[in-house]
Amino acid sequence: GAILGPTKPTSTSRRIIMFPLPFQGHINPMLQLASILHTHGFIITIIHTEFNSPNHSNYPHFTFKSIKDRFSEIIHEMPTNPLIYLNRSCVDGFKDCLAELLMESDKEHIACLITDAGFYFTQAVADELNLPRMVLQTNSLGSIVAYGVLPFSSKNGCFYLTKDDQGYESSVAEYPLLKVKDLVKISTNPQMSADISSKILKQMKASSGLIWNTFKELEEPELEKINHYFAVPSFTLGPFHKYFSVSSSSLIEQDRTILSWLDNQSHKSTIYISFGSDISIISESEFQETAEGLANVGLPFLWVVRPGLVIGSEWLETLPEKFLERVGNRGRIVKWCPQQEVLAHPAIGCFWTHNGWNSTLESICEGVPMVSSPCRFDQPINARYVSDVWKIGVLLENGFERVRIETAIKSIMSGKEGEEMRERIRNLKDKVNHSLDKGGSSHQSLMSLVDYFSSL
Ligand code: UDX
Repeated sequence: GAILGPTKPTSTSRRIIMFPLPFQGHINPMLQLASILHTHGFIITIIHTEFNSPNHSNYPHFTFKSIKDRFSEIIHEMPTNPLIYLNRSCVDGFKDCLAELLMESDKEHIACLITDAGFYFTQAVADELNLPRMVLQTNSLGSIVAYGVLPFSSKNGCFYLTKDDQGYESSVAEYPLLKVKDLVKISTNPQMSADISSKILKQMKASSGLIWNTFKELEEPELEKINHYFAVPSFTLGPFHKYFSVSSSSLIEQDRTILSWLDNQSHKSTIYISFGSDISIISESEFQETAEGLANVGLPFLWVVRPGLVIGSEWLETLPEKFLERVGNRGRIVKWCPQQEVLAHPAIGCFWTHNGWNSTLESICEGVPMVSSPCRFDQPINARYVSDVWKIGVLLENGFERVRIETAIKSIMSGKEGEEMRERIRNLKDKVNHSLDKGGSSHQSLMSLVDYFSSL
């Protein structure tokens, strides 16, 4: 907590109980938030599912309580959407665990519960036990504004168009930043998305407040809309990972040998490629186009291929023939890496990303322009902000095609356009740093959050 100056919790400190959604992109920000609050004198208890359990030994100062979810048993034959499933299967375990925690300690000693927005069932449990619930929303403000207005339940079929249909390239009336072809990616089951997003938004409205991993200067118009839409207060104290230098919440072992390989690459010469964590997948042909694109660009690259990323493969079996010989020591492929450190490395010149919100923020914080290949959910929305609003990246609008990949990467690495993007993202990086300084917007928001806890 270099920026904040730590305040150690004492025996009279209040406890905050937190419950992350068990996926990498949700566990990271929740545990980062936990660490931030701990340095502000709160005692932390983390309730978590057995599935994707965080490593307790990395957080000796927190208390962990594990609940049964049955998720691991059925993940390969998932009967329904994982989120809907978890919101049913965790109810009893969570309720019992929380009731037990309330019995163990004086209620006044518990400041509040903070749960992931995706765990919408927890609002009813909190109400029943008379405990205030705050929500951690791990997505951007912009994506939640969009989710609030997108026509998921309309009958006009715009979620099912294909590239030969009329209207595929048009803007979405409800959110003109997006094109209809983005909707097709955001959801392949609009009815289910309508159901889930309305539950999430409803329980965000019913909560005591919203915590966002973003900073005001990045999403000011969206923050205004959010404040208008939700009557409860919003706190924008991100980017969380900037408060601490290393992430210890990784579920997969990180290959750190690549850091010394990066030391041998020249300044801003290397492309970093990662399409995200446990929920992202790409097809075999997308994987092969990626490989061909990287081979043709002719620049050094570090490529994260998580086992399970490519549909139908264990790991690298479907790489094009002789790919590794062709690229030689110019390219490295790893299963997982310390992404925040990689992005901060001076050798990195661009990040080809799926635009999960954590990755997008991490790239902005290090001033690294992006090539965007969003897969689904909020990612196509984040990608539009990156390319069309902040203008700090190039969106591969039409999927994975080796020639277009090559052009996009080159325009960032060597074109004038790339230099302008670099300038704009450097500007945002400065804004991030100011927002975290004493008196900056994120710092102030954190202070108001701490005050708000005492009012609950
Ligand atoms: C999804 C959603 O799209 C995102 O917006 C949401 O908030 C979380 O879930 P996800 O696929 O998890 O995204 O990606 P992202 O949000 O980018 O999170 C991935 C995390 O894994 C990042 O913190 C990144 O630093 C980390 N990571 C990734 C590694 O530590 N090593 C790697 O090799 C790759």
